[in-house]
Amino acid sequence: MTVVALVPAAGQGTRLGLNRPKAFVTLQGRSLLERAVDGLFASGAVDEVVVMVPADLVDDARALVPRARVVVGGAERTDSVRAGLAAAGDADLVLVHDAARPLTPGPMIHRVVAALREGASAVIPVLPVADTIKRVDAGGAVAATVDRADLRAVQTPQGFTAQALRAAYDAAPNESATDDAGLVERAGGTVATVTGDPLAMKITTAFDLRIAEVLAQEHK
Ligand code: C5P
Repeated sequence: MTVVALVPAAGQGTRLGLNRPKAFVTLQGRSLLERAVDGLFASGAVDEVVVMVPADLVDDARALVPRARVVVGGAERTDSVRAGLAAAGDADLVLVHDAARPLTPGPMIHRVVAALREGASAVIPVLPVADTIKRVDAGGAVAATVDRADLRAVQTPQGFTAQALRAAYDAAPNESATDDAGLVERAGGTVATVTGDPLAMKITTAFDLRIAEVLAQEHK
């Protein structure tokens, strides 16, 4: 079965506060994009990688990740994933992985692919939530305390049969979602979970980047 990983890297990374798209920011000398793509290949669980980047950075991306296929992403993350899916031709299994998770360990990528090979049509890596989570109203007052035991923080790569992911995207042509499994859920599909890893943390803010710098030094 051919496993193709899509790496959406077309975001502007506004919340990071640097002057370039997040995937092209470097962590200990290597861009998040290179780290994410190299990590997927190094896992041994992935046959091909398709990267989606802003139109003006296609050539830069090709130079950074020569083993990957590079295509132009879209305005929203879902548009970028759509563009990647269109380029994922003969995939049987599709992983969708954020360039913003450059330290994702190979064994976690394996767990996702193994769950698909064992028959899941959609699978996400998750971790328990450490903080207590509350729902607030529009004015900021607490409306409810959510039972933490039932909550999980979701990471990537998320894995799908190509058929399930294409069907979910076809069923929601104009919708955007913060994660791809959300579209599968909306289409009525079952999403399985495997254990995530703290190293698969997502870099969103300058604070996250500082934490990742320390971790990257420890996990060269
Ligand atoms: O903005 P956020 O951190 O949620 O983005 C997650 C991932 O999706 C990043 O790797 C980003 O580059 C990618 N993305 C994309 N196309 C967009 C927006 C985000 O490929 N239009």
